Amino acid sequence: MEIKKIGILTSGGDAPGMNAAIRAIVRAANYVGIEAYGIYDGYEGLITENIRKLERVDVSGIGNKGGTILGTARFPEFKEESVRRQAIETLNKHGINALVCIGGDGTYMGAYKLSLMGVPCIGVPGTIDNDIVSTEYTIGFDTALNTIVECVDKIRDTTNSHGRCSVIEVMGHHDPDLAIRAGIACGAECVITTKEDYSDENIINVVKEAKKLHKRNCIIIVCEHTIDVFHIADVLNKDGTYETRAAVLGHIQRGGTPTAFDRILASRLGDYAVELLKEGKTGVCVGVKGEELTYMDIVKANELPKKYPAKLVKQFKHFI
Ligand code: F6P
Repeated sequence: MEIKKIGILTSGGDAPGMNAAIRAIVRAANYVGIEAYGIYDGYEGLITENIRKLERVDVSGIGNKGGTILGTARFPEFKEESVRRQAIETLNKHGINALVCIGGDGTYMGAYKLSLMGVPCIGVPGTIDNDIVSTEYTIGFDTALNTIVECVDKIRDTTNSHGRCSVIEVMGHHDPDLAIRAGIACGAECVITTKEDYSDENIINVVKEAKKLHKRNCIIIVCEHTIDVFHIADVLNKDGTYETRAAVLGHIQRGGTPTAFDRILASRLGDYAVELLKEGKTGVCVGVKGEELTYMDIVKANELPKKYPAKLVKQFKHFI
């Protein structure tokens, strides 16, 4: 089937660089004579028929903007086959015969299920978590990491002035990549990457060790969904080696201007997604390995065992 019109959607948590990907997909599609349509608010837009044609001018000047111009949503209803049938009816009504879906593993699953129902779909990795194993880097990860580094550096300033300890929670869903890389970049004293890493006794030993080394301040970075940072601060305040404060960086990590790395990654992956659709590929997701662009069956990609940054964790310990 010759592809004449493609739909583009962003779904799940937004990530800086999604706009650069949208721009690249529209431009690359137009370049090969394919029309592009924006589907607004993720898969939900296929049900509410929130769809508009995107001309090349509609994506001018968006590559450097955070967020996603298409809006995004988490739409668990899409797991239902009847909802997906409705989505396909919408696509048929608009003559859209392929989709590029930008997001994380939930987005990939939606794309895969639609592709099984006959809609050519390509997944593009867009999430700050870097938890998609089929690519070395996801769009948004580098920007979020730089945001975290900037925030932790600021917290370090005040922590140092007061001679305190700060316990800082960063995002990553269950993936510790943001936490450990931020720990290395910011010279943290400790990074908690898994629940199993942690005990009250160990964390007290960490700060006592820092004190012995005459450190005026102490930074502990915690991957979300492991240990509550306010609990850790409580434990450390009771111990009394350092007066301690807790901070949850939260959604500040998802906003802001994408870095050059993310803009380039997004542009290359968006362009590659159009190229693969043109070649008749479906049910695959694109990725990057070094300088190489890669693709893989979406199901295989979602089934790959999650990676744990063991080497980084080991090296981190040398820098304390
Ligand atoms: O998947 C991206 C992410 O930012 C995770 O790091 C975080 O756990 C989650 O989304 C937060 O989701 P929400 O914005 O729906 O609260």
